[in-house]
Amino acid sequence: MRKMLFLVTAWLLSAGVFAQQNGELWMDVDGKHINAHGGNVIKYGDKYYWYGENRPYRGFTTEAGVGVYSSTDLQHWKDEGIALAVSEEPGHDIERGCIMERPKVLYNAKTGKFVMLFHLELKGRGYEAARVAFAISDSPTGPFRFIRSTRVNANVWPFDYTKKQVEAAKQTDASKWKKWWTPEWMAETQKGMYLWSDMAGGQMSRDMTVYVDDDGKAYHITSSQENLTLLVSELTDDYLDFTGKYNMVAPGGQNEAPCIFKHGGKYWLICSGCTGWEPNEARMFRGESIWGPWTQLPSPFEGEGGYRDFSAKKTFGAQGTYIFRKNEEAGSPYIFMADIWNPRHLSESLHLWLPIGFKTDGTPVIRWQPAVPY
Ligand code: GAL
Repeated sequence: MRKMLFLVTAWLLSAGVFAQQNGELWMDVDGKHINAHGGNVIKYGDKYYWYGENRPYRGFTTEAGVGVYSSTDLQHWKDEGIALAVSEEPGHDIERGCIMERPKVLYNAKTGKFVMLFHLELKGRGYEAARVAFAISDSPTGPFRFIRSTRVNANVWPFDYTKKQVEAAKQTDASKWKKWWTPEWMAETQKGMYLWSDMAGGQMSRDMTVYVDDDGKAYHITSSQENLTLLVSELTDDYLDFTGKYNMVAPGGQNEAPCIFKHGGKYWLICSGCTGWEPNEARMFRGESIWGPWTQLPSPFEGEGGYRDFSAKKTFGAQGTYIFRKNEEAGSPYIFMADIWNPRHLSESLHLWLPIGFKTDGTPVIRWQPAVPY
């Protein structure tokens, strides 16, 4: 029965009869559900490339790597295979059985290379490594070559930290605070308690995205400090390293799944809360610049509808992963790209892509639609 459904959907899609429907399986041109999660889409030449976690049907560790699909219309996707494969070498950072999450690929016009950044957890160590990893390729479909994985900004203070703030952070001691969410604990967290405890080893980096600004400078935005605080860090011109300039956004705010775009001269950061694979209410921040100041606003999700019985209050059942446009020059709508996670069968996690609208005051708003009108 399921196979029949797959075949019929694939045929209808290839015949251009209907668009990919939010909250349903999205078939590639061979009739297989698109197994690319937590990823991003880029345009290169006349094609779009969709990168994402290739997840197993059972279990949650990475057995294959980061997958890539190509398309000319964002509807018909061809499976281009594994862009970055796991390593078969025991002890390798990306040994089969590690966890690769939220891969993001950027094309670097200066070097002519494709650079992939992703969240990496080492095999058998749960989520404790909290690293970002870099890989590089000459071609959009790979093979990407793994470069290294690392924590971020070791022994560097946020660029906007004053001497007074540095001194206050140095007085904190994370080992003392077993009980979270008390007012005292929050005060210490906001003083930079976790920043200080990870100063020597480097800051944690889990859910992440990347953003290239109009001037070509690229930034890495990540959930750090036990997923309590976002870090915005500047990347070097080749996108293969950090310059050391970074700052913190919403310390203690517990934001995950960061997605960002710029519109009307402002930066808009849309995140989720931290409830693992379970959907929760999105959060939004408006930045006057990439370095802030950031103002927190209500979730941009509004209106009726959603996946199953998940309402706008639960981000329609999804968690964001990236924001992109079909055609920048033509001013196509920004697309909020998200995953409807299926923790029992992660490979069958669904996709939800919705256009971002704007209220009269310029604030983003995202409403449910069955499909994206590009
Ligand atoms: C989510 C996160 C996912 C994945 C998952 C694991 O909160 O956004 O990328 O890490 O937790 O439970």
